[in-house]
Amino acid sequence: MKRLLLSLLAAAFCGAAASVLAADAPRERTNFDAGWRFAFGHPADAAKDFNHGTGYFSYLAKAGYGDGPADPKFDASAWRELDLPHDWAVEAPFDAKGSHSHGYKAIGRNFPERSVGWYRKTFAVPESDLGRRIALEFDGVHRDAIVWVNGFYLGRQVSGSTSFRYDVTDILNYGGENVVTVRADVTLEEGWYYEGAGIHRHVWLTKTAPLHVAHWGTFVTAELGADHARADVTARVTIANESSAPAGFTLEQSIQAPDGRVVATGKSAALALAAGEAKEFSAALAVAAPRLWSPDDPALHRLVTVVRDAAGAIADRYETPFGIRSVRFDPDHGFFLNDRHVVLKGVNLHQDHAGVGGAVPDALIEFRLRRLREMGCNAVRTAHEPPSPAFLDACDRLGFLVIDENRLMGASPDQLGRLETMIRRDRNHPSVILWSVGNEEWRIEGNVLGARLTATMQAHAHRLDPTRRTTVAISGGWGGSSTTTDVVGYNYIAQSNPDEQHRKFPQQPGVGTEETTTQGTRGVYFDDKPRGHLAPLAKGDSGGNCEIGWQYYAARPFLAGLFFWTGFDYRGESTPFGWPAISSQFGLMDTCGFPKDSFYYLQSWWTDRPVLHVAPHWNWPDKAGQELKVTCSSNHDAVELFLNGASLGKKDMPRNGHLEWQVVYQPGVLEARGYRGGQVVQTTRVETTGAPAGLALAPDRRELRTGAEAPVGGDVVVFAVAAVDARGRQVPTAGNRVRFTVTGGRILGVGNGDPSCHEADRGSERSLFNGYAQVIVQAARDAGPLTLTAQADGLASAEITVPTR
Ligand code: GAL
Repeated sequence: MKRLLLSLLAAAFCGAAASVLAADAPRERTNFDAGWRFAFGHPADAAKDFNHGTGYFSYLAKAGYGDGPADPKFDASAWRELDLPHDWAVEAPFDAKGSHSHGYKAIGRNFPERSVGWYRKTFAVPESDLGRRIALEFDGVHRDAIVWVNGFYLGRQVSGSTSFRYDVTDILNYGGENVVTVRADVTLEEGWYYEGAGIHRHVWLTKTAPLHVAHWGTFVTAELGADHARADVTARVTIANESSAPAGFTLEQSIQAPDGRVVATGKSAALALAAGEAKEFSAALAVAAPRLWSPDDPALHRLVTVVRDAAGAIADRYETPFGIRSVRFDPDHGFFLNDRHVVLKGVNLHQDHAGVGGAVPDALIEFRLRRLREMGCNAVRTAHEPPSPAFLDACDRLGFLVIDENRLMGASPDQLGRLETMIRRDRNHPSVILWSVGNEEWRIEGNVLGARLTATMQAHAHRLDPTRRTTVAISGGWGGSSTTTDVVGYNYIAQSNPDEQHRKFPQQPGVGTEETTTQGTRGVYFDDKPRGHLAPLAKGDSGGNCEIGWQYYAARPFLAGLFFWTGFDYRGESTPFGWPAISSQFGLMDTCGFPKDSFYYLQSWWTDRPVLHVAPHWNWPDKAGQELKVTCSSNHDAVELFLNGASLGKKDMPRNGHLEWQVVYQPGVLEARGYRGGQVVQTTRVETTGAPAGLALAPDRRELRTGAEAPVGGDVVVFAVAAVDARGRQVPTAGNRVRFTVTGGRILGVGNGDPSCHEADRGSERSLFNGYAQVIVQAARDAGPLTLTAQADGLASAEITVPTR
């Protein structure tokens, strides 16, 4: 501590602003995403792997013997410069020899020259940092990451979705340059779905005093009193004394309400830790009339922990956002949040998005959640791995209920360690309502091994977090995991019998961890199998569809709700097609987030807003005189359909259902009128349009967030691109190729939701698919206005400017 104070003084006199231990902010956490260098290595050929690992003594033999790119003297100046998050898979071409499950990108075992990625970043550490504890934190590297700093091997993390951290205090060059090197290897896959490749999540550098709140060292829980008049908050804080002398200290804790007011404070008596000791301390704090966290009001409280050393100086200040809320799964009545019954209207999500693959910037995570909210979705299952911390932060802020899922079942120290990492990292998120220890473990789920492993993992989870229960998603193997899990997860009602399970295990709550939406391509109404395009199936191969699934769960209040497979299409698993189809089609939205018709079915019954959606579009020049099926999703009492002014009949809308008409096609106007209480309350027109005449652009936000308001890495705008006819009507069949230019930002990626499109994701051109494309643009760091221009041969161009706030 003395050394720390001396360096503090030295820094103050030298004015070394960047790393001064300001008295009120002794902890620094710096985003480490900018300024990396990247190059491909090779899993087998040492020459192509920069002669890494060729020394007589390897980095595993002698400390500091990292060679090749791990050697601090290695010259990486010719390597590509990039900022994180990065996914080299999305930059790769498509190839029939690629993996079906990963969307036929040319990475993996068949492409050794694109399966190992090296990253390097140099960074300065001032001399004044000597005496602090310094750590590098990785939110996730896909996959099999080995990390060195200054040639010192730090460790290996095989799983691409597990966060990990290395304390690098002892090996840094203080007052000089340092280098971190990461080698990721995607020769082997973890999931059977697209996972991306490389450092696909944020990296951070943290600096603390030797006496500090331990990594993921807080655990805040709240018990709601009767009538929610007060909450009894337990703040558990682990303090680490990473110095070579005993340390005396006190803890001051306060709770800030969502509006910033301090609503509870507490102070410990004098405490002490031996040299090198870490210990948990617990404090009780009461909050009167707390504002509760919920999807409708995702109000976040904040625990502020201040550690004061024996001299009274602030050694650490650590903030923990948390929510005051209660969750309960009831075997007979479903799910309760804050003692109110809530139906989980959920979807499963994989991480990837059009254009950017697995490297999803924070603002795009928000975009995806906002699209889901528009559909009425209030819950997400993070299939089949822990999500990024940024994802859970967004769920806390936007009010989503999350099943946080572990990757691989197992009870080895390695596997329980990853479960533990997930729980320690995520247990303060109010959004997380349930831990999932596994998904469809076919070899064990139906037998005693599954029963035992579920029980062991569940007990481990309970030790780390007594406030939440666990689930496991089961797909047909009954009598194993299903006998020991807290909450049974049903993957598809076609493969399970929740009524029977409920009878046999009356004390066990249940939730639909997966349910089919069927499959279908956005904007497609007739199969075109050579192009991998599907009209919505009446029933999926797992025996249902969105409506069957929702009606089943809506009729069984003992179940907590369900999670459709999936919210968005994702890369890989292009079933029922193989090459050249590259994306799944299970989504309620395509890979860009453009809605399919089933989106509106759920919106009708998952929201209170008036919905009146008619499908298909009405541009069928080849089908004059033929009968077409017209479907209507709505939550009105009745709907009347008209074609060119003539009524085709008025029908009552069945609850949780939809309506259909067989209509002989003639071009013109299809109009639906929605009735409530006998009155027309909403009208929707679907018109036959002319040919594309111009382009139209729509940004997802009106203003760019800057400064402290901007998400990490800068704000991102998601533009929808469409073609319009001479009368400004969106042309639903347009496929024009569109070119984009941008000022004030850079294009991160482009997409169009076509599950078979092989156009480059990381380009500045894209064809519209059934009328739409998407451009994802990141604002420049200095954040002036951002202008996007779209041009296509023979069409009037479009330009739009998004100003800064
Ligand atoms: C489920 C599985 C998902 C996905 C889906 C496709 O069985 O859990 O990850 O593969 O099938 O239908």
